[in-house]
This record gives sequence, structure tokens and C-alpha cells, in this order.
Amino acid sequence: MEKIRRTKIVDLLKREDYGSQVCVKGWVRTKRGSKAVNFIALNDGSTIKNVQVVADVEKFDPEMMKLITTGACLSVVGEMVQSIGSGQNVEVQASEIEVLGDCPADYPMQKKGQTMEYMRQHAHMRLRTNTFGAVFRIRHNMAIAIHKFFHDKGFYYFHTPLITASDCEGAGEMFQVTTKNLYDLKKDENGQIIYSDDFFGKMTSLTVSGQLEGELGATALGQIYTFGPTFRAENSNTPRHLAEFWMIEPEVCFIDLPDLMDLEEEFIKYCVQWALDNCQDDLEFLNKMIDNGLIERLKGVVSTDFVRLPYTEGIRILEDAVKNGRKFEFPVSWGCDLASEHERYLVEEHFKKPVIMIDYPKDIKAFYMKQNEDGKTVQGTDVLFPQIGEIIGGSVREESYEKLMKRIDEMNIPMKDMWWYLDTRKYGSCPHGGFGLGFERLILFVTGMQNIRDVIPFPRTPKTAEF
Ligand code: 4AD
Ligand code: MG
Repeated sequence: MEKIRRTKIVDLLKREDYGSQVCVKGWVRTKRGSKAVNFIALNDGSTIKNVQVVADVEKFDPEMMKLITTGACLSVVGEMVQSIGSGQNVEVQASEIEVLGDCPADYPMQKKGQTMEYMRQHAHMRLRTNTFGAVFRIRHNMAIAIHKFFHDKGFYYFHTPLITASDCEGAGEMFQVTTKNLYDLKKDENGQIIYSDDFFGKMTSLTVSGQLEGELGATALGQIYTFGPTFRAENSNTPRHLAEFWMIEPEVCFIDLPDLMDLEEEFIKYCVQWALDNCQDDLEFLNKMIDNGLIERLKGVVSTDFVRLPYTEGIRILEDAVKNGRKFEFPVSWGCDLASEHERYLVEEHFKKPVIMIDYPKDIKAFYMKQNEDGKTVQGTDVLFPQIGEIIGGSVREESYEKLMKRIDEMNIPMKDMWWYLDTRKYGSCPHGGFGLGFERLILFVTGMQNIRDVIPFPRTPKTAEF
């Protein structure tokens, strides 16, 4: 018999050539029915939707039929027929069923309605559930949207190293990279570890940001973006922090703060609109099962103007709120780094829209940010989002060699590892700026998921690196 090529379920459900012979392959979601006829819901990951396979029991080997359980992998050949009861237009009247992989009863995704924590403990199998299928199809779509946005605007995708000898954010939250024998570390007379015989001949770590190298790219190619993994050894056990996350970092020459904010706003709106246009089925599922306000919130963001708020003004609003009886866990006053509860108050309660906060006190921001005339603040910009808090962090960069050097001195940043970065300010320095979007925080927003561990396939957090 002529081999029938497999049709992906996403394609099959769009077809109308009823009567054709088709082949579908996928995993059993449910099986129900009577002694005479079984209905098998099959999913192959190409869409949130299942196709219904109808099997007249007497036509098949009873031993084989017993192997068709939730999670089993099947290949089915049959006639594509119009369906009335399955929720789709199409179903498959099976003539041949082959069990490609059976699935014993201890399959961890056997039961519906497990907690998210249970899912994380079975992260290798949770991918096969409806929820995680939807999340990771959306994640893919967001990656495509990001490349398309920047490519269409003439940005170049620029690859920055993951292993580095410098600490971009200066927070000391880096994972070391070494081939040294940790049981036998050689130290000098001051008790300092000797790195000259290590693989790179110096102390190296996994990068916390591609920005510094990105600035080199931008000051040559005009405008670039990076999109890659970044690593932070911060011991934050929150629903918004990962030790390994993906960041998108555009860097643009000849840009000022207002234009930078425009770019941030346009970029996020583009991504959210892309999801609304291209991920409808998955969003509808998540809207129904995870977060009833999701689609409305996404539509709200694309149609609203983001607030632009100087830090000093934001602090005033928060102080007024405290005066009027609003309780926060952390105190708030000029100079403090805003806690997530403060950011969310501004966004969710006060303005009820996304906020781009600017002009932060220099002491709570990184060394590279452009200093304002007041001597106290810098041209940093954080985009604050409902549910998420900070989704973007960026700035105009200090382009003056002298001012930058002075700041590096004040902050005691080790200079010897930074000489190549300073060359951007020495040779043909130019005004420039950029930002970093936390990819998983965008996915959190777009999917309505509550915990960042559930929007990356295999999360890395303190004490977790199982899968
Ligand atoms: O604000 P951050 O630290 O800024 C930078 O790294 C700059 N070098 C970016 C730039 O200007 N090119 O981080 C940027 C974004 C944050 O706004 C947040 O969305 C995300 O990265 N982020 C994290 N996401 C998940 N887990 C973590 N531990 C994160 N830390 C930062
Ligand atoms: Mg930040």
C-alpha cells in the first residue's frame, strides 16, 4: 500500500477535502467511548487543538487497543471526515492504528489539574501539557517578532560573548568559569587565587549582559541588537528572577532619551501585537484557563500611551500614597531603589498603565549611564509593567571619556579589565544608548503565567538545575 505522508494536526484542521486518506501522529490526550467505538483525542504539539480519532473497536486488536492510554504515542491512518461532535470540523475515522510508544500508568502528566509546583518537578514532561505547549509556542513567536522588529528597522543582530572577564552591571553577581582543580587551588602569598594558569589566563565568568560588547558593535555598525542567554548569581527566589535568562539588548548611536523611550514603547507594543495576531488559539486557551483578563490586558497595552515619569516625581507620588495610609513592606524616599511593590503601585494603582521611569539617582544605577546636569541623576530608563514590575532597563550612555573615568573611579570599578570598553570613548566617541528587555518577563506578561519558572523550558534558580 502506498505510504501516506503525515499531516500535522494544525494543517489537518484547516482542510476541507473530506473523504481523503490521511495519516496523523501524536500523543493521546484522552480516550473515551463505549465497547463499540472509542474516541481518541490526539495532539502533536503543532497546535493547542486536538484531532479526534474515531476507532470502531471490533476492527482492531484488543491487546493493541489496551495500549492506547493517556500519553501514548500513536500513528493513525484513516479517512478524514466532517465532524459534528468533536469541537473541530475534522476528525479521522481510523483504519490503521500503530502504537509507536506506549505509556505506563505512572506517566507524570496522567492527571489533569496538577499544581504548577508539581509541573516544575516534572519539567521534562510538563512540556507535553496544553498549558506549557501554549507557553512555548508563544515564546517561539516572541523570538521571531523580536528579530523581525529589529531587522525591519535596520538593526544588525550582533553576537556578544557568554564568557567574559568584565562585570557589566557591577553587581558582582557572576558565575565563575574555570577549569581549575577546585580541590587544589594555588594561591599567592596574599592568599589570592592564581589565575594565570587557568584556561583563559585570568578570572572569567558567565556574562550578566552583552551591553559593553554591544556598545562596541553599535559604534561600528550604527545600531545593533543582541539576543542571547545571560546569567546572574543573585540569590533571589522570586517569581520574576532566574539565574539563567535571555535578554534582548539593542544599542543605538545618536539616540537621546526621548527617542530611546519611543523605541522601548514601540518595541514592546510590536511584540504584544504580534502575539495577538499570531498566537490567537494559544492566547484564548491561556485566557480561559490561566488568566481571564489576559487578552484584554494585552489589547490595553498596545492601545495606550505609556506614562513617562521622572524618578523624583515617582517618589513624590509614593510618599503621598504613604501619607494617605497606603502600606508598603519597604520604606520609600528619594535615593532608594524602588521595590517591586512600589513599581506595581505606580503602574497598577496610580496610573493604571505602563510607566517609563527616567532620571534615576546615580548611586542606584550602573557606572555607564549618562550623567545629568544636576550632578545627582542619570539618564536611566526602566519600563515598568502591570503584573511584572521592571520589564526593561536601559539608559543613554555616558559618552564623555573624562566623566566616565571619574565615575569608574568613584565606584571602584577595576579598570584593567575595562580598557577596551573605554576605547569607545577615546576614539570617535558618540552619543548612544540602549536597553535590555528580559525575554522571560515579556513572556510572563504575554502569557499571563504567574511565575518566571514556567515560561522557560528548563528554569535555573538557586538550588535547581535538575533538567
Ligand atoms: O536592568 P538590567 O540589569 O540592565 C542591564 O543588564 C543593561 N545592561 C541593559 C542594557 O542597557 N543593555 O537588566 C535588563 C532586564 C531587566 O529589566 C529585566 O527585565 C531582566 O533584564 N532581568 C532579569 N530577568 C530574569 N531574571 C533575572 N534575574 C533578571 N535580571 C534582569
Ligand atoms: Mg534594571
